Amino acid sequence: MKRIGMLTSGGDCQALNAAMRGVVKCLSCSEEAVEIYGFLDGYKGLIYGNFRMLTGNDFAGILTKGGTILGSSRTPFKLMREPDENGLDKVEAMKQNYYKLQLDCLVILGGNGTHKTANLLREEGLNVITLPKTIDNDLWGTDMTFGFQSAVDIATDCIDCIHTTASSHGRIFIVEVMGHKVGWLTLNAGMAGGADIILIPEIPYDINKIIDAINAREARGSRFTIMAVAEGAISKEDAKLSKKEYKEKLKNYPYPSVSYEIADEIQKRSGKEVRVTVPGHTQRGGSPCPYDRVFATRLGAEAGKLILQGEYGFMVGYKNREIVRVPLEEVAGKLKMVSPDASIVQEAKMVGISFGD
Ligand code: F6P
Repeated sequence: MKRIGMLTSGGDCQALNAAMRGVVKCLSCSEEAVEIYGFLDGYKGLIYGNFRMLTGNDFAGILTKGGTILGSSRTPFKLMREPDENGLDKVEAMKQNYYKLQLDCLVILGGNGTHKTANLLREEGLNVITLPKTIDNDLWGTDMTFGFQSAVDIATDCIDCIHTTASSHGRIFIVEVMGHKVGWLTLNAGMAGGADIILIPEIPYDINKIIDAINAREARGSRFTIMAVAEGAISKEDAKLSKKEYKEKLKNYPYPSVSYEIADEIQKRSGKEVRVTVPGHTQRGGSPCPYDRVFATRLGAEAGKLILQGEYGFMVGYKNREIVRVPLEEVAGKLKMVSPDASIVQEAKMVGISFGD
């Protein structure tokens, strides 16, 4: 008999349900009897002992369903070691609940913050297996996270829609894509949608270079310019500020987000009309795309295999087109960022895309 605890933590994404279903289907195909405890709303459920016992039926028909049947929440890693408002030691509480239910292991689905806590629980002696979810694709140790491809599809659709209206009006259009720290989603959706300018956090921009790129397009006879801008895009000047100085600047920031600042700058300097579109959380919503359904199922199956083999302390990831096991301590606390020298960036530049650098 295996007793498995499962939780989904952090911002949700597509294919969380598909991944959990993959784990449970794999376990159900074995001889081993299994009990599944689903902790609700991420680590909160594990801390406060809020769970539901689940059966195979709970995982039927959810392959194509967005969101997560367990609910999710953000419980910041930096607060894990701080007692809650009633003085409860959260890490101790999670351990107690794990032991009380006599769990063999926890299956944790999440992104960067989630992996830091998962690794902490491993260090505390719990058996943990993780699955890499996030639309940002910024987890270390895996070439791909599930949710990413679905989000690329949605952000690309948005840019495609903007393209048709852009061709009717001689304007500059900005589509703001999710990603505060990394630009994988913006880069991929931008290229897929034929954006002319792509701004990502890893490559600080110079507003003059952006205007040069717009003018160059106009000089070639183009009536419009489409920009894919990451939420976390940053100017060269701001990138020079210390963390503290930058935070200070944001306190009095007059714009809803960086795209509006860029729009304002372009308008002021060039007199050109600029429109901003923010697809926001739609990028994390709806059904997983077929790629993510297959990918999450494969990762889930491998997690099931690890459980049956009694091998713990791994994230199931994807490297060089193979499903792999990555030790959790190698994953936790690291971000997989876009290198400005990456070949995809160079190829984008080769086809004339400006990064404003
Ligand atoms: O989960 C990743 C992500 O969607 C980022 O792309 C985005 O910056 C952030 O979460 C938004 O977080 P929240 O849903 O808490 O506003």
